[in-house]
Amino acid sequence: SRTVKSGAAVTLQYGSKTFSTTSHNHFKVTVAGGSGGIGQPLCLLLKQNSLVSHLAVYDISKITPGVAVDLSHIDTATRVTGHKGVDQACEAMKDADVVLIPAGMPRKPGMTRDDLFSSNASILRDITADFAKYAPEKSIMAIITNPVNSMVPIASEVLKKAGKYDPRRVLGVTTLDIVRAATFVGQINCIDPAEVTVPVLGGHSGVTIVPALSQCQPPVKLCNEEDIKRLIKKIQEAGTAVLNAKAGGGTATLSMAYAAARFTCSILRALAGEANIVECAFVKANRCDTPYFACPILLGRNGLEKNLGTGNLNELESSLLKKAIPELLKNIKTGEDFVMKPQ
Ligand code: NAD
Ligand code: LMR
Repeated sequence: SRTVKSGAAVTLQYGSKTFSTTSHNHFKVTVAGGSGGIGQPLCLLLKQNSLVSHLAVYDISKITPGVAVDLSHIDTATRVTGHKGVDQACEAMKDADVVLIPAGMPRKPGMTRDDLFSSNASILRDITADFAKYAPEKSIMAIITNPVNSMVPIASEVLKKAGKYDPRRVLGVTTLDIVRAATFVGQINCIDPAEVTVPVLGGHSGVTIVPALSQCQPPVKLCNEEDIKRLIKKIQEAGTAVLNAKAGGGTATLSMAYAAARFTCSILRALAGEANIVECAFVKANRCDTPYFACPILLGRNGLEKNLGTGNLNELESSLLKKAIPELLKNIKTGEDFVMKPQ
């Protein structure tokens, strides 16, 4: 990882670029949806992380015990357990330090992420209800399921109802946007993408994805605004590019597993007491114009330690953000209404 000036004008490590570590700790990580397209490669990566002492693979799919046995043959110290079906949610989430949630349907061609709401809202609600019942109070929830902009509000409302809400511990995973932005800038600048840091703000769908290219380190080598706009569009539509290329076979799974493994490693390193760990995530906002917002956050022993805000934006980025806010508000309200005003 690199050291750069953050939006808060403090020198911080921004966006851990590695999910391997030489430290050893004893964290339990549960993956709800662990037998799916994202879940399996995510578990494969977590099985190789020495911070993870116990990996719990939780899913309703019948292959779940097999996925766990398969993973358990990998010669690393991480213990693996498999938990199939909702009656095993308790065992899966008990003692979990982090619960990652990639459970739910992916898009089919022609769908927007919002079109997934009807199938995924109840999945997220029920998993969060189990999280409230069975996971320890200190546990951190990281939501991958789409539409992320609505799923984080759903989880938050369910936890509020259960009297268990701590906004520091409910994180929407937007790391794939950061990973993609760094990859594309690396290609443009002809440098290793691991050297690139670009915050992506707003949310995780369409116009709510707002790359803050003016804060890119090192600066992106594009001179005119048309090229910048093209790059922004490429980042915003990268998920759809994968969806179309997979031709009906699902959406991003491998790059998402990489991104989630990196995000998890950052959470665990912060839980272990490492300082200056920063990632972007969709979280309870410290802005008054939207209740949730994706931006760089400083991670600590309780999850979100400090919201670092948007930093300085140029005119183009400010106008993109203006466009994003009404869409975000709509997505957030849809999620909140689902829990507060059930039909
Ligand atoms: P998938 O269908 O391959 O896997 C989903 C898994 O969830 C399946 O194994 C299924 O059995 C399981 N599941 C369903 N309901 C469950 C429940 N109640 N409890 C436990 N497990 C349950 O889908 P995928 O490709 O892995 O994608 C999963 C989700 O992640 C989708 O909603 C997709 O849109 C989203 N996604 C988000 C991002 C992001 O950047 N946040 C990126 C890619 C995909
Ligand atoms: C992505 O950005 O790849 C995911 O949100 C999946 C999707 O539906 O595009």
